[in-house]
Amino acid sequence: MADTKDIPSSGEGEIATFQLGGKSYDFPVVIGTEGEKGIDISSLRSRTGYITLDEGFANTGSCQSKITYIDGEKGRLCYRGIPIEVMAENSTFIETAYLIIYGDLPTRRQMSDFSQKVLRNANLHEAMLHFFEGAFPFTAHPMSILSSLLNSLGCYYPNMVTNDREKDLESFDDAAALLLSKVRTIAAMTYRMKNGLPLIYPKKDLGYSQNFLHMMFSEPYHEYYPHDDVTKALDLILLLHSDHEQNCSTSTVRMVASSGANLFASVSAGVCALWGPLHGGANMAVIKMLEEIYRDGDDGTRFIEAAKGGKTRLMGFGHRIYKSYDPRAKILSEAADKVFHVMRKKKDPLLEIAKRLEEKARSDPYFIERNLYPNVDFYSGTILKSIGLPTDMFTVLFAIGRMPGWIAHWREVATKPKSKIIRPRQIYQGEVNKPYIKVRNRDAGDLQDYESDVSKSEGYGAAENASFKA
Ligand code: SDX
Repeated sequence: MADTKDIPSSGEGEIATFQLGGKSYDFPVVIGTEGEKGIDISSLRSRTGYITLDEGFANTGSCQSKITYIDGEKGRLCYRGIPIEVMAENSTFIETAYLIIYGDLPTRRQMSDFSQKVLRNANLHEAMLHFFEGAFPFTAHPMSILSSLLNSLGCYYPNMVTNDREKDLESFDDAAALLLSKVRTIAAMTYRMKNGLPLIYPKKDLGYSQNFLHMMFSEPYHEYYPHDDVTKALDLILLLHSDHEQNCSTSTVRMVASSGANLFASVSAGVCALWGPLHGGANMAVIKMLEEIYRDGDDGTRFIEAAKGGKTRLMGFGHRIYKSYDPRAKILSEAADKVFHVMRKKKDPLLEIAKRLEEKARSDPYFIERNLYPNVDFYSGTILKSIGLPTDMFTVLFAIGRMPGWIAHWREVATKPKSKIIRPRQIYQGEVNKPYIKVRNRDAGDLQDYESDVSKSEGYGAAENASFKA
C-alpha cells in the first residue's frame, strides 16, 4: 500500500541561492521521481522576512504527492506511474479508482471485495429520498444539489465525519466506497427529479457505469439496456477524469482536508470549485458553443475571433499545465466517433464542428503562440450528449469521474505525518493608518437626507442611531 512517509524530502544537494538585501541565502532543491525540481522555500520568511508572490500559483508547488504525474510540455499523464493511455486501453473506472486511492492495482480478491463494497453502497439512506420530493426546485442546478447532498451524507453516517483524524481514517475504506457509489446514485436521482421522473433504484447485478445508465434511463415499466459501446464510453470518460494532480477542485479538497475536516465536507467543497466555467463547467460551455455555431451555420470563425479579441475564451481550449495536446482529449476524440455511430448510425454534426474548430484554431498564430490545444472538456461533451445526458449534467459526470482523485488526495493529506493546515500569505495593498471617524462626522453633506430617510427605513440600529444623534 503506497504511503506518504517515504516521499523524498530533498534532492541530491542542489541548492538555489537568493540575493536579498545584500545577503545570500541558500535553499535546498527538491527533485521529484520524474525529475521535476522545486525550490524548498519553507524557511524563506523566517530567515529573510520576504515571502514569494505567485498569483494563481502557476509557479508554486503546494505539496509533494505520489498520486498523479503530468508532463504538460510532453502531454503525459500517469496515474500512480501508469500512463493514461495504458489505463484507458486495459482498465475500468472502478479498477482505476482503486489504483488512485490505494496506490497499487488490485489483486483479483481486492478487486472483488472493492467492487462488492461499492455495489453494497449504491442505495441512498431512505430518508435522503425526501430531498428529491420537492426539497429542491426543478430548476435547481445539479451541481448545487450534488454538493449539498454529498455534505449531507455525514448526517446519515456520523461515524465517518467525526473530524477526529484517527477516527475518520478508521472508517476511510467504508467512506471511500460509499462516496464512489452514492455520488452516482445522487446524480441519477437528481436528473430524474428535475425531469419529473420516478426515482430508479440501483440493481445488484450491474457494473458501475451500467448501473448509472440504468438509474438514469430505465423506467418502472421498461428496463434500459445500453449498448456495450455506450457503457464503455461512459466508463472511459469517468476513468479519464479520475485525477489530475493539483487542479483547482483537488487543491480545494486538500485545503479543506488540511483543516482536519472530514472526507464528505472536503469533496463537497471540491464540487463547488469544479462548477466554475473555467474548470469543470467548461464541458457544458463547449456544447453550448458548438450548438451556437451549428445554429449560426458558420464555421466557428466568430468564436475564434471573439476569443482572440479577449472578449471570451474558446471553451475546451487551453490549459494551465498542458502546453501540448491534453492526452485525454486525444483519447476522447477517437471514442466520440465510435459512440455516435453506435447511437445514431451517422456522423455527429457537433463532433464535426468541434473537429473543424480544432483545425482552425490550431492553425491560427494566436493559439499556436500561446500553446493552446484542446483539453479534456473539448470532446467529452459530444460523447455525453450522444449518450443522451442533458448539458446541465455534464459537470456532474466530471465530479463522479473525479471522485477517486479527491478521495485519494484527502487521504494523502490525512495520512501525512505532521500535516500542516494550508494557509497562504499575502502582500497587503490596502490603506494604512486610516482614522476612525464618528458616524455623525462622516456624511454631514447629506445629513438632512439621511435623517428624513431614517424615519422611513431601518438605517442604523438603535445603538448607531443613539451615537449618531449624539
Ligand atoms: C479543466 O487544472 C486542471 O488540471 C484542470 C482540468 C482537470 O482535469 O482538473 O484539466 C480540467 O479545468 C480543463 C480546462 C477547462 N477550461 C476551459 O476550457 C476554459 C477555457 N480555457 C481557459 O480559460 C484557460 O486556458 C485556462 C483557465 C484553462 C487556463 O488558463 P491559464 O493557465 O490561467 O492561462 P492564462 O489565462 O494565463 O492564458 C494565457 C494566454 C492569455 O492570453 P494573453 O493574455 O497572453 O494574450 O492564453 C490565452 C489568455 O487570454 N488563453 C485563451 C484561452 N486560454 C488561454 N485565449 C482564448 N481561448 C482560451 N481558451
